[in-house]
Amino acid sequence: MLNNNGFASDNHSGIHPDILKAIESVNIGYSIAYGDDEYSKRAINKFKEHFGKNINVYFVYNGTAANILGLKTVTTSFNSIICAETAHLNVHECCGPEKFIGCKLVTIPTINGKLTIDLIKPHIIGFGDPHMAQPKVISITQPTELGTVYTPEEIKKISDYAHKNKMLIHMDGARLCNAAVKLNTSLKDITGDIGVDILSFGGTKNGMMFGEAVVFFDKKLSNNFPYFRKQGMQLASKMRFISAQFEAFLSNNLWFKNAKHSNKMTQILYREVKDIPNVRITQKVEANAVFATLPKKYISPLQKRYFFHVFDDQISEVRWMCSFDTTKSDIMNFADCIREIVK
Ligand SMILES: Cc1ncc(COP(=O)(O)O)c(C=O)c1O
Repeated sequence: MLNNNGFASDNHSGIHPDILKAIESVNIGYSIAYGDDEYSKRAINKFKEHFGKNINVYFVYNGTAANILGLKTVTTSFNSIICAETAHLNVHECCGPEKFIGCKLVTIPTINGKLTIDLIKPHIIGFGDPHMAQPKVISITQPTELGTVYTPEEIKKISDYAHKNKMLIHMDGARLCNAAVKLNTSLKDITGDIGVDILSFGGTKNGMMFGEAVVFFDKKLSNNFPYFRKQGMQLASKMRFISAQFEAFLSNNLWFKNAKHSNKMTQILYREVKDIPNVRITQKVEANAVFATLPKKYISPLQKRYFFHVFDDQISEVRWMCSFDTTKSDIMNFADCIREIVK
């Protein structure tokens, strides 16, 4: 029988009770639509507490829209965006970037999901040549799609390099909170303070019902965002229900507590599975994902008991993730099941 408390992804979890309470607490009377309400102002002020006063922030429904609309706003059709081959932007947005941003994605193979200057450099070419795409943005994901975490120094090197070349840094921070917990930093320390220009900030994967934010650390960059958000069908009319979630998420350390819990559970999961014969961990476990290979024949029997994704079919690599509400006993049951099936 399929066990519901699985490890497929952190968005399989429900809603944190404080978030649900926050939604309910604003469900009173009428409120101005499209974000001109008091609750949205309060949520934006919370963002300013965490990311600095000099930002513009906009809410959207999902992470794909945050990435695409943020990047659309700062590029034009003859630009290129540099990203890792594994970037969500490249693999899991159904060529939305190609359609809606309409410029070139330059995708770079990596061993651990992280870009480095050495990897990026060969692609920063053609400036001023009308025959070539004009490099405009380097997009990095923190934590990466392979569960690894950039150090602040690594990010700073990339952003200095980008700015030296008059380019911008976009960060896909769908799970930024997990990275901040791992690095023991504030959210600002690993974004605006080290040169990130545009941030997609995730809430859904860390206890919210839905809602992501696009944060511009240089306000001028955001001038066209409101128009692209509306054209992109992401301007929520009952915005207060996203705003209330973000206000709660960024209050009382909720973002931190949720991410701390999922990171901690992931370390327990890692310890439980790493020595199981035939299970080989393939990436450093630094946030809330464990990547492992196991013989192909065991995957579908295991999936009958626990739903999860095969990340790379070629090498029989799977991804297991923990959430804000994963329990130790969920992990022990899962590890027992793996031990029973994988011999
Ligand atoms: C790294 C990363 N970025 C962005 C997203 C986009 O999320 P959504 O499904 O909300 O569009 C995801 C979702 O899995 C993700 O893992």
